[in-house]
Amino acid sequence: MFVNCKETPTQELYKILIGSIIPRPIAWVSTRGINGINNLAPFSFFNCFGVDPPMVGFAPGFKSIIKQGDELIREPKDTMQNVVDTGEFVVNIVSKNLSEQMNQSCADYAKDVSEFDKVGLTPASSSAIKAPRVLEAYINLECKLIQLIQHGNNNLVLGEIICMHIDDQVIDNRGHIKSEVLQAVGRMAGNWYTTTTDGNFELKRPRL
Ligand SMILES: Cc1cc2nc3c(=O)[nH]c(=O)nc-3n(C[C@H](O)[C@H](O)[C@H](O)COP(=O)(O)O)c2cc1C
Repeated sequence: MFVNCKETPTQELYKILIGSIIPRPIAWVSTRGINGINNLAPFSFFNCFGVDPPMVGFAPGFKSIIKQGDELIREPKDTMQNVVDTGEFVVNIVSKNLSEQMNQSCADYAKDVSEFDKVGLTPASSSAIKAPRVLEAYINLECKLIQLIQHGNNNLVLGEIICMHIDDQVIDNRGHIKSEVLQAVGRMAGNWYTTTTDGNFELKRPRL
């Protein structure tokens, strides 16, 4: 099968890409709106793009896109609006025991409703920014916006990690994260997820 992306409906491209690029890590992003409401939502178009300085990116789509005459009216998701308004966000890492709450937090709650309250999580104060972090998550990455790139109906939020909160249970005394304790989950296609603890195998780097 050959796919010409320009001639393929977006929904078909979505199915192919979310089934091909797997597993995807999940940024569970907490923000605070200018209305003071704490927001929380998962994004699996997400990754870390470097460490000097540490940089992450995630891609919130639009809540809705409405055609008015020749114009497209795009309504941003709450997370993106909050990042644009405040320049801040926290990426919380989703461990297996939090996956149900992560999933519940993706529901389309109104702007004045906090997902923290709805799914029963604790918004803890961050150190460098006003956006809260998820106390129950083992790892929180406090980020400041570097750049927002809009391309078509996509948005890419790039942020610099300013500081991190890491629960002592998930890091050893040599600074390695204990993946078997962290139990981070990854997203597959559709409603499927995977763990990062089963079936791991090692490949040593070749040396020429
Ligand atoms: C595991 C998972 C991953 C998701 N990844 C994305 C994503 O990468 N981009 C996106 O726009 N929406 C994604 N969603 C949907 C958003 O979480 C959902 O639209 C949410 O309501 C946005 O909340 P907000 O309006 O409070 O920002 C994902 C949902 C789940 C459950």
